[in-house]
Amino acid sequence: MAADVSDGSLDLRGYDTVLEQLGEPGSRGLIATPALVCDFALLLENIARMADVTRSAGVALRPHVKSHKSAFIARRQLEAGAAGLSCAKLAEAEVIVECLRDDGYGRPFSVLLTSPLVGRAAAHRAANLAARCDLIAVVDHPDGVDELAAAVEAAGTELSLLCDVDVGLGRTGVTGATEAIALVERIDRCDRLHFKGVQGYGGQLQHIVGRESRRTATVESARKLRVVVDAIEALGFPVHLRTGGGTGTAVIDMDIGLLNELQAGSYVFMDREYRDALGSDPEGRFAQSLTIATTVISANQEGFVTVDAGLKAMATDAGAPLVVGHESDVEYHFFGDEHGLVTNDATNPFQRGDRLELVPPHCDPTVDRYDAIWLVANDVVVGVMDVAARGCSQ
Ligand SMILES: Cc1ncc(COP(=O)(O)O)c(C=O)c1O
Repeated sequence: MAADVSDGSLDLRGYDTVLEQLGEPGSRGLIATPALVCDFALLLENIARMADVTRSAGVALRPHVKSHKSAFIARRQLEAGAAGLSCAKLAEAEVIVECLRDDGYGRPFSVLLTSPLVGRAAAHRAANLAARCDLIAVVDHPDGVDELAAAVEAAGTELSLLCDVDVGLGRTGVTGATEAIALVERIDRCDRLHFKGVQGYGGQLQHIVGRESRRTATVESARKLRVVVDAIEALGFPVHLRTGGGTGTAVIDMDIGLLNELQAGSYVFMDREYRDALGSDPEGRFAQSLTIATTVISANQEGFVTVDAGLKAMATDAGAPLVVGHESDVEYHFFGDEHGLVTNDATNPFQRGDRLELVPPHCDPTVDRYDAIWLVANDVVVGVMDVAARGCSQ
């Protein structure tokens, strides 16, 4: 873990060398590669931009931790006015809550678990976590309500619940108003569970290329969610919270006005997949703050060089990364577990030892491959942040 190597007892992966040079010109060039590097100013700009845009639209922001898995960033998002945090899994939430407490973050904050929980053990953990933060969980099955009801009863805690609604992704969520109403009535029968609203996350919408197509599909998803909201309210249960959305639909969701809380995550870093989909659309106006630093380890071949970032250095579900500064004139190709191939010619005469930076194809699962992210300002390393919830997918 990054914490172990920074206390001076070990010098794995060259951490100590860089930490000794923290703040020194050229320290960026000392980072052992492959490594994740984040432009600190651009990160802060992205955090502030989404906070401002949502604030001006009168919509709450509950940024998704799954993109960064970092207590350092979560804290900055809360300090910028976030209504709370979204976490994909219990372990992610447990670790981030613990880290924020250890870091001395004293204000109460709310955490939404955006995936339904299954089984007594998970319900028990959620009930215990509810004692440490204002926890909200989503449910999409009556058994899930019963498991949580039993767990909070045993733990003596209370839990707010959202009905998860499938708005077209088909991943989780009830598929219609009848199932939603059955869940809400079940929640209402338990004193320690409180129905708070609905979640409608349209993951299938986020990367639709072209604003009009994305908008049309998002309007259709919102219509599905509205049918469920209206049915629940018609029975006399107020739907206070209507949460969902991501980086790709954020501005469209604000225009539609049904969601009163957005769960965007990727905007802090951005990635090639989002760059391709959003182009110059309003949703795409976030800076590429995250890159993968890599080194040319061999340049003996005609037409390409070999770099030290391969399949293990990034998620590959979204294709190849771009080479920063050479987005249109060179190509990266995967070259096995440990290596990549970068095309090379007379105009781009990369040499052994050159350092290149790559735009990650997909930021969330790429971040989960690293213990730490280096924070830089130009060629200076200004800090390092732990990917505290790395691997916390349970
Ligand atoms: C439930 C949920 N909400 C929000 C997000 C954040 O979306 P994005 O990273 O595209 O902003 C995700 C991402 O997968 C998600 O699964």
